[in-house]
Amino acid sequence: MKIIIINGPNLNMLGIREPGIYGKEDYDILLKMIGEHAKKLGIEAECFQSNHEGALVDRIQQAYFEKADGIVINPGAYTHTSVAILDAVKCVSIPTVEVHISDVSKREEFRQVSYIRQAAVKTIMGEGLRGYLSAMNFLVDYIGEKEKE
Ligand code: DQA
Repeated sequence: MKIIIINGPNLNMLGIREPGIYGKEDYDILLKMIGEHAKKLGIEAECFQSNHEGALVDRIQQAYFEKADGIVINPGAYTHTSVAILDAVKCVSIPTVEVHISDVSKREEFRQVSYIRQAAVKTIMGEGLRGYLSAMNFLVDYIGEKEKE
């Protein structure tokens, strides 16, 4: 099973950016946590980060051609603005989990809109970096159940 973990703008700045909201652990620690968790689950996990909307769209499309089984995506601020990322997820029909490190439901009004949510099989928020691992667990179960159908 192959899962692609996609992070949008400013998530490369973890540990530096607003540590009171996003924590003190940096992006490299996140990569390490994901790598170790993938090993435990016996799956392949590939990580990608970009600050550019089109590059995120390209990576979602690439997931289709490489026959990825699942996508975990934190589109960062593009969550609240990007129809292009929503459309890309709809294009590929790959089960996708939306992740937010912070609990966006308790933050500013403009963060209450999520374009991608309507194409996601699940949304995880407010669990910090562990939210990515919860998303991986969810996808492994979800894809496993789908394969039985
Ligand atoms: C975020 C929440 C977004 O509102 C914000 O723009 C981000 C990170 C999160 O992980 O909590 O960049 O997606």
